[in-house]
Amino acid sequence: MVREVLSGDGQAGVGLVDAMSPTEIEQEALDHVWIHMQPWHELAENDGLHVFERGEGSTLWDTRGREYLDGIAGLWVVNAGHGRREIAEVMAEQAGKLAYASASSFTTPPAARLAHTLAELTPGDLNRVFFCSGGSEAVETAVKIAKQVQAMRGFPRRYKVIARRGSYHGMTMGAMSLTASRNETYFGPFMYGVSHVPHPNRYRSDFGVEGEQADIMAARYVEQEIENQGPETVACVIGEPVSSAAGVHVPSPTYWRMLREICDRHGVLLICDEVINGFGRTGKMFATEHFGIVPDIMTIAKGLSSGYAPIAAAIVRDSVFDSFKQQGMVAMGHLLTFGGHPVAAAAAQRNLQIFADENLVRQSAEKGEYLKARLEELRSHPSVGDVRGVGLLCAIELVRSKTNKTKWGKDSIFAKRVEALLMERGFITRTWEVMHFAPPLVVTRDEIDRMVAIADEALTIAEREHEAEFEA
Ligand SMILES: Cc1ncc(COP(=O)(O)O)c(C=O)c1O
Repeated sequence: MVREVLSGDGQAGVGLVDAMSPTEIEQEALDHVWIHMQPWHELAENDGLHVFERGEGSTLWDTRGREYLDGIAGLWVVNAGHGRREIAEVMAEQAGKLAYASASSFTTPPAARLAHTLAELTPGDLNRVFFCSGGSEAVETAVKIAKQVQAMRGFPRRYKVIARRGSYHGMTMGAMSLTASRNETYFGPFMYGVSHVPHPNRYRSDFGVEGEQADIMAARYVEQEIENQGPETVACVIGEPVSSAAGVHVPSPTYWRMLREICDRHGVLLICDEVINGFGRTGKMFATEHFGIVPDIMTIAKGLSSGYAPIAAAIVRDSVFDSFKQQGMVAMGHLLTFGGHPVAAAAAQRNLQIFADENLVRQSAEKGEYLKARLEELRSHPSVGDVRGVGLLCAIELVRSKTNKTKWGKDSIFAKRVEALLMERGFITRTWEVMHFAPPLVVTRDEIDRMVAIADEALTIAEREHEAEFEA
């Protein structure tokens, strides 16, 4: 088979895949693709493998012709929706013209245009763009910029990073060091000097207080941590404006304004990770706009190209780039071969044009309100403890007891069962402590209704099956 793919007229590989049966493709996948987030026996023995081959709007089809509603936009990625031929066309055109030039010493027209667009779209004076290929790289880049800037400003001892519990910032070693669920057993020790502070959580506050007061306590904790570590040792604080991984808790503007002020007062740089939040996901172009703050560094990825090409960036304020310029050169101890790839940049630029033409950010805000109102109806379920979200970044929290807010626990069988029931009914999402609802921003009201109806049915079945495990 391999020899057939690689021989012939150069078209053989593509043609051959088209000619292969779903079973043959599945077998190749089972033999050679490392699919690692699902139990192997489910994939290999229980017909659990899905090979997706086509998408349109919020709908996906697998090689067996089965249809699915994409309730998670791939992985909070495909904001402009699947099947955008206009993006595919500019990519083909750009690849035909120039497929690569090194971004460390040179740039290309698509990268220059995209950097300009991003400088215009991002809040405040976030004007300088360091391109990379994915969210983890963007986070690595942001942290390295923060450390280097601190050193160049005369504070070489400021190397520590404060992240938040529950947060996710990627899985390369540096980014993983900031990710709260990092696996110490396999991968420790991690980057030195990282500490994790409580995340805002009004549903189950770490501080025994309610409402905005919980956010204020969480912000004060950040200041305590800076003081406890010694401000002269802290380089930066990093957080997602609205963290999906931590459970889609939407803090009040007070929280982020306090963090901005605390960081400024202590000479600490503030990094906002907008890898999921950015590009309309929360009903604003960037989630920081809800809170009226400008971070020193912002990381973006996913929705930047709506997944049509791997592209990401760390964007810095003028004051940060000025520190580099004052050194006479702007070199960073950093180089990513595919950063600012012209085909990916062209895809992102076309994607952002679609955002403007179709007003996708407003669509996200409006449809998000509708989605949240529909999700509120699920509160009558014994397993639905809370409904949260902003824009099309919504979630319901699954509990064993609504009174005590008891969690199902890590690797919850209940959550896994719900996820499987959703999949059987043609609705793809991610479910752990919370069930996520984050479809492409082009989702229709009818599709939202179908997602909620399927969730309703799946919860009803799982609750019946696990009745004995609920607490009073
Ligand atoms: C907030 C956040 N930051 C960073 C990342 C890492 O992005 P990537 O998987 O593209 O490396 C993710 C991935 O989901 C993310 O959610």
